[in-house]
Amino acid sequence: MNAVPGPPPEHPATPEIAVGFAGLGAMGLLFARNLAESGVPVLVYNRTQSKAEAMASASVKWVATPKDLGRAVSRGVTFVMLSDGPATKSFLFGRSGYGRTAGPGALLVNLATVDPEESRAFAARLGERGIHYLDAPVAGSVDLAARKEVTFFVGGDEVDVARVRPLLERIGRRVDHLGPVGSGNAMKLVNNLLTIGNTALATEAIALAQELGLDLSRVLELLHSGGGQSTMLDRKAPAFRERRYAAQFTTALARKDLRLVERAAARGGGPLRMTREARKMLEASMAQGHGSEDFSSVLEVTLTRGRVPAAKSAESPGAAGPA
Ligand SMILES: NC(=O)c1ccc[n+]([C@@H]2O[C@H](COP(=O)([O-])OP(=O)(O)OC[C@H]3O[C@@H](n4cnc5c(N)ncnc54)[C@H](OP(=O)(O)O)[C@@H]3O)[C@@H](O)[C@H]2O)c1
Repeated sequence: MNAVPGPPPEHPATPEIAVGFAGLGAMGLLFARNLAESGVPVLVYNRTQSKAEAMASASVKWVATPKDLGRAVSRGVTFVMLSDGPATKSFLFGRSGYGRTAGPGALLVNLATVDPEESRAFAARLGERGIHYLDAPVAGSVDLAARKEVTFFVGGDEVDVARVRPLLERIGRRVDHLGPVGSGNAMKLVNNLLTIGNTALATEAIALAQELGLDLSRVLELLHSGGGQSTMLDRKAPAFRERRYAAQFTTALARKDLRLVERAAARGGGPLRMTREARKMLEASMAQGHGSEDFSSVLEVTLTRGRVPAAKSAESPGAAGPA
């Protein structure tokens, strides 16, 4: 169990003032619930309103629009955990955006995986209204989020980090401040290049093991204790063994992240060859109909050499993915 630090008197997470939480997807729902269960009143918003309504309780209230959230939380802290940069931009600056009503001194903490450049643009635009911004993307999937064991890679001002740290420590295990706005997202892209690339490469080891007639359970057991061991191989071993891919982190989101990695690399040193191959594998997986399954389903692409079943061939690789 995490130690639960009591908020200092001036902290926004007092019983009187709710913390805002936008985005009740696979990850956001767990964070909002864990915050509320730790004793912090939470005000939630979600595009699909029924998910917000379903959370209502003594410590969780819901609002209908981002603008309502900004108004209600006012100068307090709001977390946002949407799919991607465009969704976040529309939440912040759309016609009924949060940025229209949140007050000076408010702190917006973006937990989603977005481009560091997007974060810097959000911070600059919110800053014009006196609203502070942190990027705090998450390392760890739904299992770790449920157990409050994720890590937050945080970018932004030291004072803002100190303000939100007690809240993040209620829902995660580590809070690592990397530097100015965008550096949390930068770290997250580096992390996900390896997380996703490692998983894609692991599927080739599994395919080879099968072609060579080895028993998969034994292979996974032996890889665990050898040089081929990896956290992702261990985490995804049950999915690989059973070829069942209940969504934790979807193929569409993983593809989104590798595109962000490639975009960031293109601004710097140029193309990353293995990342590009892994991204193509994810796109082939989406073409096979696995876009909303866990990204470990990329094993099916490797095992089928990327062949698209006739019934699925009409589905475009871009159809299920965020922009
Ligand atoms: N899943 C993981 O293991 C994991 C781990 C670390 C980081 N992340 C990152 O965390 C973020 C959220 O991931 P997730 O797995 O929780 O995603 P998810 O389950 O797909 O949930 C996405 C959330 O974004 C909302 N949304 C999407 N498009 C929107 C739009 N245009 N306008 C308003 N709301 C919109 C959805 O609302 P509706 O309910 O209305 O659809 C939902 O609340 C992503 O950036 C992902 O890369 C995920």
